[in-house]
Amino acid sequence: MNPFTLNYNPDYFCDRENEIQHLKDNIINGLNTLVHSPRRLGKSAMILHLFHQLKKEKKYETVFVDLFATQNLVDFTKIFGEAILQKYHTRNIITGIKKLFRGVHASITFSDDGTPMLDLGLGEGQLQTGISQLFDYLEQRKNPVVVAFDEFQEVAGYPEKAEALLRTFIQRLKNVTFIFSGSSNHILQNMFYSAKQPFYQSTESLVIDKINHDIYAEFINQCFNKFDKEISNSAIGHFLEFTETHTYYTHVICNQAFYKSNNFLEKDEATEITGNYIETRKVDYLNILNLLPGNQRSLIKSIAKEGIVQKPSAVNFLIKYKLPSSSSTLQALHVLVEKEMIYRSPDGYKVYDVFFRRFLERYF
Ligand SMILES: Nc1ncnc2c1ncn2[C@@H]1O[C@H](COP(=O)(O)OP(=O)(O)O)[C@@H](O)[C@H]1O
Ligand SMILES: [Mg+2]
Repeated sequence: MNPFTLNYNPDYFCDRENEIQHLKDNIINGLNTLVHSPRRLGKSAMILHLFHQLKKEKKYETVFVDLFATQNLVDFTKIFGEAILQKYHTRNIITGIKKLFRGVHASITFSDDGTPMLDLGLGEGQLQTGISQLFDYLEQRKNPVVVAFDEFQEVAGYPEKAEALLRTFIQRLKNVTFIFSGSSNHILQNMFYSAKQPFYQSTESLVIDKINHDIYAEFINQCFNKFDKEISNSAIGHFLEFTETHTYYTHVICNQAFYKSNNFLEKDEATEITGNYIETRKVDYLNILNLLPGNQRSLIKSIAKEGIVQKPSAVNFLIKYKLPSSSSTLQALHVLVEKEMIYRSPDGYKVYDVFFRRFLERYF
């Protein structure tokens, strides 16, 4: 068993106590919440942990809907329907479908692991009926229900006017509160903060930040101890510094470290582990880099070396890294932000993927 799991595991979950309390307060007060942060900081895991706690407390029912792979409202209805079926009707799926989709042609197949997969024959005009029945079903549960729509920014890309439609349904519900979750980018910003958009001012917002350094350090220490292993403070310090305490990257490195170390892990070995890890990713990262046009390649290397850059078009930055004119640098920047290779944080621009950044620092 490796305590640094890359799937959510309630037994090895670190902190997020304040954030989870905040979400619980909103739920109690009937407020919907938008949860956002850069990728891989732990939004999904945190919502799953909240749901794990709510299940134990038995006052609320929870439905987690991952919209990542959805492209239109039919996909949305299908994924949402599957999540409800899995929650409430695993014993008798056929009865479940009949209850959930009255008058809509729906059939079911099962994937290899037994997950139900819906096949919906939604004709013209039936889509709204289908969606509205799902919301009605939850509205009529005896217990209050919390629904999480993870990767909610996908909805903005649907060809239908999905936001306005969903907003209308959501507004009517009294028994259901919602958590919308997604990576902070302009799509999500626009959905929730633009006065013209349907979701404007209808939700509380909760920004997920990095886990506190000392709390994370203590968590790592305890995970090692639980399995009769030890790790020095300076080794932990090295890992957290290397990964900038960005949750996913820290977990990947600690997973390796836990697996590779014997009884006591010291800083020297920790440094070797991070170095070797970047080495193993080298070929992939070189491929990614070589696929970029020249201007983008030079810019991302320069930003990696600098760490964080407030104004990439500033003359001294351009001169220092021998970059082309400020207009072509800005154009390259725009594309890299769009591709989510560069992240625009409040402090400046940086390489989104921490390991990629370490790779660039090391080899260029
Ligand atoms: N509080 C936490 N404790 C332990 N592991 C976590 C925690 N938060 C996130 N993780 C791990 O970090 C990785 C990224 O988290 P995830 O929830 O998928 O991020 P996001 O949804 O923000 O992109 C996952 O592998 C998850 O298991
Ligand atoms: Mg997620």
